[in-house]
Formats: sequence, structure tokens, C-alpha cells
Amino acid sequence: MTPEELLAPDARRPLITLLASHWVSMLGVALATTAGFSWLFVLPLHLHGSRVDNPYIGILIFLIIPAILFLGLALIPAGIFLARRRIGRGLTAVVDSRVAWRRIGLFLGLITFVNVVIGSQATYRAVQHMETEQFCGQTCHVMKPEFTAWQHAPHSRVECVECHVAPGASGWLASKMSGTRQLTAVVLNNFPRPIQSAMESNRLVSSLETCERCHARTGETGTGVKVISSFKEDEKNTRSETVLTMHTGGPRGGIHGAHMGPGIQMRYAAADAKRQTIPWVEYRDAKGAVKTFAAPGNASSLASLPRYEMQCVDCHNRPAHSFEAPDRAVDAALRAGELPVSLPFMKKTAVQLLTAGYATEDAAAKEIPSKLARFYQSSYPDVYSRQAPEIAAAGRTLLAIYNRNVFPDLKVTWGTYPNNLGHTDAPGCFRCHEDTKQIANDCNLCHQMVAVDEPSPEVLKTLGIAP
Ligand code: HEC
Ligand code: HEC
Ligand code: HEC
Ligand code: HEC
Ligand code: HEC
Repeated sequence: MTPEELLAPDARRPLITLLASHWVSMLGVALATTAGFSWLFVLPLHLHGSRVDNPYIGILIFLIIPAILFLGLALIPAGIFLARRRIGRGLTAVVDSRVAWRRIGLFLGLITFVNVVIGSQATYRAVQHMETEQFCGQTCHVMKPEFTAWQHAPHSRVECVECHVAPGASGWLASKMSGTRQLTAVVLNNFPRPIQSAMESNRLVSSLETCERCHARTGETGTGVKVISSFKEDEKNTRSETVLTMHTGGPRGGIHGAHMGPGIQMRYAAADAKRQTIPWVEYRDAKGAVKTFAAPGNASSLASLPRYEMQCVDCHNRPAHSFEAPDRAVDAALRAGELPVSLPFMKKTAVQLLTAGYATEDAAAKEIPSKLARFYQSSYPDVYSRQAPEIAAAGRTLLAIYNRNVFPDLKVTWGTYPNNLGHTDAPGCFRCHEDTKQIANDCNLCHQMVAVDEPSPEVLKTLGIAP
């Protein structure tokens, strides 16, 4: 094109000359390339999956970077339009296309250089920081209860994403989207307290894609022996042992076989989101015969309830975030020697102090140790004078138990998240196994009691198990 042609007000000019003629389109180019580069750096870093499913990275990938990209892409035509108008009005000289190419080339080079040097470093550092447990423990404050419980669980070496994110790109995408939604709720401070359990909000990934990648359904466990030591709430903290055999079984029978054996399918309807009330169960055996068990009541209201396929997590719902019952936590600490059995009424006082209710973590941190000390000072002054350091240590142990189970600001307290594996602290197995639905609940169906609350059961000596 000759200069005259270019200057003509209605001339058709190469886009490139227009692009280079206005700062708005140049800014658009800069933003779009920066967004492109950031994606290039963040995506591969994150596709490996991270230790903690981090919603902040989701925000970066799904909100911030696309916003910058689209802003950039919108600014380019806007700048071209503005350039065309200014040239049309004769306000600007037209750039020669060779100059335009050079200008754009230089500009892109500069932006790329800046992106590579600063962008890659900054994004890399930011993403790395977001993946640290420190960041999650401290910043993703909402998940503190689960994070804390996970650190004490048998699965503390299993990453969060192994159970919470389905494998493959779609699982990764779904998790990032939901993480982004959750973070928005945190920023707007409108998330529920306590936050819903994964089953309650129906966000649980199928056990086929989580548990069963590590634990084969065909695993045979046979019958195990459980020894449960507990301490009475008397002055001596009297210890006793309960021994039971547990028919866990495997594909051919027992507890696992009955619900998860080959060909067996079970569905149930729940009347509440937490799935604590189960009025209807359907059992399909390996031969395809179907039995249904329903609580007496209105059949049409039963039919309207949501139905779920039975999975590992219907019994093992707390494999990674098991919150304790206060008396069991105290029993465990007494058994481990973290609380001294020698202190009179240790069990009773400990349970009382743990369950007293404190407005904040700080209040608990002040009151639990000081009230324990005061109890011994006033009721057992001679014990206090002899065992003051042990009493102080016991106060710290109690506080640690409290801090891993109760989170006042998130409204998580004793029993907020019930454990379905059992029936003594929460309905658990008895949600289904009870008379009104006529599902077997004989005491020897699942386990055999060998000793109940005995001081020193013979059977433990026979088995060579020192309690
Ligand atoms: C071994 C599997 C497993 C691992 C590992 C795991 N979780 Fe969970 N998580 C679960 C299951 C199962 C539930 C559902 C419990 C329910 O619905 O009763 C759950 C529930 C949750 C909930 C919902 C609130 C609640 O307590 O029900 C949050 C939040 C959570 N997990 C966060 C995490 C974080 C953070 C990590 C890593 C530090 C993690 N999880 C690791 C299995 C796991
Ligand atoms: C990444 C592999 C992995 C995944 C996924 C996983 N587990 Fe495990 N699980 C393990 C390992 C390893 C152990 C043994 C840990 C130990 O004994 O310290 C274990 C132990 C267990 C135990 C015995 C715990 C105990 O108290 O000794 C149960 C029950 C269990 N897992 C259930 C589950 C369930 C339910 C899920 C799915 C929600 C699941 N696991 C997901 C690897 C996994
Ligand atoms: C009907 C309830 C129920 C279902 C469903 C269930 N389990 Fe279990 N499971 C139990 C009970 C009860 C125990 C024994 C617990 C004990 O001894 O304290 C157990 C024990 C285990 C153990 C420990 C075994 C050992 O060596 O002692 C593992 C691992 C386990 N289950 C994994 C799974 C997996 C994986 C699934 C899903 C494929 C599953 N369970 C489904 C009830 C269930
Ligand atoms: C969602 C409902 C549901 C839950 C929860 C449930 N079960 Fe079952 N269970 C059933 C049904 C239904 C049957 C089959 C009953 C029948 O055939 O009469 C069954 C069968 C059994 C059997 C075999 C009984 C037999 O006659 O041989 C055992 C053992 C068992 N369950 C143990 C457990 C244990 C342990 C738990 C808790 C950890 C549990 N169940 C939780 C519904 C449930
Ligand atoms: C449907 C299966 C099932 C039936 C029926 C059943 N139990 Fe259990 N029971 C369990 C499971 C599972 C546990 C928990 C094991 C664990 O803690 O891991 C348990 C635990 C216990 C414990 C130990 C509690 C503790 O301190 O930890 C006692 C005691 C007990 N059952 C008594 C009974 C009695 C009494 C009956 C009859 C009324 C009964 N059970 C019927 C499945 C069953």
C-alpha cells in the first residue's frame, strides 16, 4: 500500500498497522500473552495433583487468569477500533506496516522476556507456596478440623486428593471448579458452620475411584480380635478390658462379604442429608434375588427420598478425619500414659473439663489447664504438692485433645461428625440393623463378645496379648 492509500480516510488498512497504532490494543496484546504464559506455568505444575486440593489455585486458573485473558482479547479489537477512528479523523499519522511489524515484534519480545523472568518465577513460587501444608493449615482455615484429624489418622500419608478427587482430567476439573466455588463462599464469609460433611453435600467421589484403588474389594480379612481398654470414672480410674472378635470377613462372607461381596448390590434411602436415618434398604444378592427392608410408615413418602448405592464410606466414613468421643480420647490417653492414672478422678475430671464448653480456643487454652490444677489444689492438696508438674502436663494433654476435636469458631464440637463404623457412639450399623426394618441385629452377628469390662480377662493371657 502506498502512503497515500493508507492515509485515505476510508482506506482498508492492514490490521497490523492499526494494532500497533493504539496503546489500548498493545495493552490487550500484553495482557493476553501474560495470561497465556501464566497458564503455561501453572497448569503443568498443577496437573500432577497436589498434596492438598487447593482452592486458591483454582481461583487463579479458573477466574483470574481467564479474566485477564478475556480482558486482553477484548482490548485488542477495541484498540483497533479506536486507532481506526483516530486515523479517520486525521488525529494520528498512520504507521507504516514494516514499522508496525517491528514495533509489535519488539513489544512482544519485551513482554515475553518480562513474563519469563518475572512471571515464571512469581507464579512458580506462588503455586509452590499454595501447596504447602502450612499455607493450607493457616490460610484454608475452614478445613482446619479435617486437616488436624487427618494428621492423626492411619491415612496421614495419603494425600487429600486421593480420596477427594476422581482420577483423570475431568475429576481434576470438577475439583477445581468446586474448590473455586468454596473459596468464593469463604471470601464472602457465607459458608455453613460447621461445613457439611462430604456425604451430606453429596460431593463424595465413588469408592471405586478412591478407596478401591488401594484396597481391593476381594481382600480377605477373616476374623479379628479387638481389645478395648476403658477406665471408670471412680477415684482410682479403674481399668477394664473388653475383648471381642470381629467378623470382618472378605468376599466370601462376614461383614465385608455381606455388603460388598461379588455380585452383591445394596441401595438405601436416607431421610436426612447426614444419612443418619435410613428407613429403606434394598439388598440384591449374587443370584439377583432382591429383598427390601422398610421401616413401617408412609410408602409414598419413602419413595420420594434420595437413594444411594452402598459404598465403603457408608461404614468407613471417617478413615481420615476421625473425631473422637471425649471419654474414648481420655481412655486412649490414660492407656498411652499421656494422662497419669495415678491422679485421683483423672478420667472423670478430664471428661468434665473437655465437655464443659468454651466460647473460643483461647478461653479453652486458659481454662482447661487452670481448672484441672485448681481441682487438685482444692480437693487433693497433698497430691497437688507432690505431682504439680504431672498435673501441668496433664492439662496440656487435655488441651491437645480438645484442640484436635473441637473448633468453636467453626461450630465443630463433640459429635458434630459422627463415625458410622460401630453403634456405640453414633447409630452407625444400627441405622439399618434394627427391629422395625427386620434386619438382623443379634449381638453375635457381627462380633462375639469374649470378655466385657473385666479387669484382667483370661482370654488375653491365653492369646498372649498384654493389655
Ligand atoms: C482416606 C481418604 C481421605 C483422605 C486421605 C482425606 N479425606 Fe477428607 N473425607 C474423606 C471422607 C470419606 C469424607 C466424608 C465423611 C462423611 O461424609 O461423613 C471426608 C470429608 C472431608 C471434608 C468435609 C467435612 C467432613 O469432615 O466431613 C473435608 C473438608 C475434607 N474431607 C478435607 C480433607 C483434607 C483437607 C484432606 C487432606 C489433609 C483430606 N480430606 C484427606 C476421606 C478422606
Ligand atoms: C493411596 C492409597 C489409599 C487410599 C486411596 C485409601 N487407603 Fe485406606 N489405607 C491405606 C494404607 C497404606 C493403609 C494402612 C495404614 C496403616 O496401617 O498405617 C490403610 C488403612 C486403612 C484402614 C485400616 C485403618 C486402621 O484403623 O488401621 C481402613 C479401614 C481403610 N484404610 C479404609 C479406607 C477407605 C474407606 C478409603 C476410601 C475412602 C481408603 N482407605 C483409601 C491406603 C489407602
Ligand atoms: C457394612 C460396613 C462396611 C463396609 C460397607 C465396608 N467395611 Fe471395611 N470394615 C468394616 C468393619 C466393621 C471392619 C472392622 C473394624 C474393626 O475391626 O474395628 C472393617 C475393616 C476394614 C479394614 C481393616 C481390615 C483389617 O485388616 O483389619 C479395611 C482396610 C477395610 N475395612 C476396607 C474397606 C473397603 C475398602 C471397603 C469398600 C470396598 C469396606 N471396607 C467396606 C465394615 C465395613
Ligand atoms: C445401609 C444399611 C446397612 C448398614 C449401614 C449396615 N448394614 Fe449390614 N446388612 C444390611 C442388610 C440389608 C443386610 C442383609 C440382611 C439380610 O439378608 O437379612 C446386612 C447384612 C449384614 C451381615 C450379614 C448378616 C447375615 O445374616 O449373615 C452382617 C454381619 C452385617 N450386615 C454387619 C454390618 C455392620 C458391622 C455394619 C456397620 C459397620 C453394617 N452391617 C451396616 C444393611 C446394612
Ligand atoms: C450389625 C453389626 C453389629 C451388631 C448386630 C452388634 N454390633 Fe456391637 N459392634 C459392631 C461394630 C462394627 C463395632 C465397632 C468396632 C470398632 O470400634 O471398630 C461394635 C462394637 C461393640 C462394642 C464395643 C464398644 C466399644 O467400647 O468400643 C460393644 C460392647 C458392642 N459392640 C456390643 C454389642 C451388643 C451388646 C450388641 C447386641 C445388642 C451388638 N454389639 C450388636 C457391630 C455390631
